[in-house]
Amino acid sequence: MTTRYRVEYALKTHRRDQLIEWIKGLLAVPFVLHSQPTAVFEPHRETMEQMAQNAQRRYAEIMRDIEELINDHIAHQKAGTHDRSKLKLLVPSVATFFTPLMLHDAFVWQDQRRYISYRRFVPPSFNDIRLILNTAQVMSLVRGGPLDLVTFDGDLTLYDDGQSLTPENPVIPRILGLMRNGTRIGIVTAAGYTEARRYYERLHGLLDAMHVSNLPAALKQNLVVMGGEANYCFKFSDESPDLLKLVPRKDWLLDEMLLWEEADITELLDVAEAALRDSVKNMRLSAHILRKERAVGIIPADGTKFPRESLEETVMVTAKILEMSEVGRRLPFCAFNGGNDIFVDIGDKSWGVLACQRFFGGIEGNKTLHVGDQFLSAGANDFKARLACTTAWIANPTETVQLMDEIAELNEMQQRKLV
Ligand code: IMP
Ligand code: MG
Repeated sequence: MTTRYRVEYALKTHRRDQLIEWIKGLLAVPFVLHSQPTAVFEPHRETMEQMAQNAQRRYAEIMRDIEELINDHIAHQKAGTHDRSKLKLLVPSVATFFTPLMLHDAFVWQDQRRYISYRRFVPPSFNDIRLILNTAQVMSLVRGGPLDLVTFDGDLTLYDDGQSLTPENPVIPRILGLMRNGTRIGIVTAAGYTEARRYYERLHGLLDAMHVSNLPAALKQNLVVMGGEANYCFKFSDESPDLLKLVPRKDWLLDEMLLWEEADITELLDVAEAALRDSVKNMRLSAHILRKERAVGIIPADGTKFPRESLEETVMVTAKILEMSEVGRRLPFCAFNGGNDIFVDIGDKSWGVLACQRFFGGIEGNKTLHVGDQFLSAGANDFKARLACTTAWIANPTETVQLMDEIAELNEMQQRKLV
């Protein structure tokens, strides 16, 4: 894609995260004032180290100020006046913070790895800030005591899009490491299947590794798979042929979910299916419609790739039609763009994470981390998890592994401090 097109595409509000864009704007000022782009062709007055030190000090001060604005917002949340915080005025889309964010320390940590302050031509970027926010979140969780629950999205978070969690995946020993520390694990994926076998096929690397591991039996109870966003719950079971056992709905559904009526579910899926069929026709997509018990979607016919714009148009039109419908106001749903498919699911990942928290005995949002790749405000499915817990926004499975190594390193530092 040409740069100009990329810029225009990225300017669309649904493709941007307002908090990240705002932080980017604040960091642009010290970048303009302190970076030394002419040093590449002029004998420089300031050494690289001096420049980097100055820039780092200014960037870090700004991060400290934002950290304090977030603390003020949290104080407002506690007083029931979150809509009156200064941060809310500056970034109207900010919602609930479950914990403070250690932005200053996280900036220093990421700067030591990404050399942001050393850059003379490239200002702090969207990705720099996204990763600083992730680090700030895990620093806060680790310092605040044990991390009780980590939920993971599947596609693009644990494995590549449409692939499976195979035995050589480096995330497996990391998940087992978390479980050894007593952390509960939920795999909260949109992939919706009624049978354990299908989830075994997608997750066999992890499930087989758990099966042969010396993890105590009690700790093996600490993994669940929540499929179809919030529709099918399975727990790990050494005895089951597929290493997963269906948990009856009565054992994990939240009270509010008991009110979801079958007639409404059918009606919502009917509206969604009609909207998808219309888009397929209008956009001339070569697609199959896939109707399931709790979802409806379109997938490419004969393995073609849908144009990105058509996918985005389809998901936005479908979501809008559902939002405007009567049934869409009664029943939660999630319409999202899965990269080369579109799905509408009943419920969303906030319900999926809340159900995992309930299943494990009532874990709080400030002790839960959801790791996912889809956090744009429209057409993305991990976004809703922000209503239930703290989150980390990763861009690919390699970043998930890096984040888990960060958690392990921070945990170790924390334990050394305590002894
Ligand atoms: P996630 O990233 O783990 O949430 O998985 C999303 C992907 O799961 C979608 O892009 C689809 O390819 C796939 N999928 C399979 N069945 C379903 C379903 O019933 N609802 C939504 N997505 C599904
Ligand atoms: Mg995903």
